[in-house]
Amino acid sequence: MNKEEAYRQLLIELPHLLSESDDSMATLANAAALIKQAFPLFSWVGFYLLKKGVLVLGPFQGAPACVSIQLGRGVCGTSFVQNETIVVEDVRTFPGHIACDARSLSEIVIPMKKDGRVVGVLDIDSHALATFDAVDQRSLEKAVTIIVDHLTSVSWAS
Ligand code: SME
Repeated sequence: MNKEEAYRQLLIELPHLLSESDDSMATLANAAALIKQAFPLFSWVGFYLLKKGVLVLGPFQGAPACVSIQLGRGVCGTSFVQNETIVVEDVRTFPGHIACDARSLSEIVIPMKKDGRVVGVLDIDSHALATFDAVDQRSLEKAVTIIVDHLTSVSWAS
């Protein structure tokens, strides 16, 4: 299956899966699992959530990761403050990249916007170079919109 087809299926399955719970952490946990399972090249898929001015590790699939990230630091903190998706073809070229897993070579981070404010990010890593492109960006931004729409509460960000 090519990447476009895999994303088409993901974007169909995601709303069904997420409709099973109105618990935010259950929603984020299953979303991370579904995305990771759909793409063998993704080594780590997870969420960092804004808590008391810091991004704190949320539900994820993959190896244990950095527990907290300051706003403006690393790819996650930069994406958060810029409120923009960041695609990094080679993490060694991104100033300030935070290496939770030394094997990670490329990364994409998508901000999560709820009711006009950024409440966290979706972070995906790959052990291969240049895994992520405009197709991933467009599709994962749609996935994040679906995920955020299913969050009944973003109480962690209050
Ligand atoms: N590489 C990220 C840190 C989080 S891990 O990839 C899971 C960053 O630079 O923000």
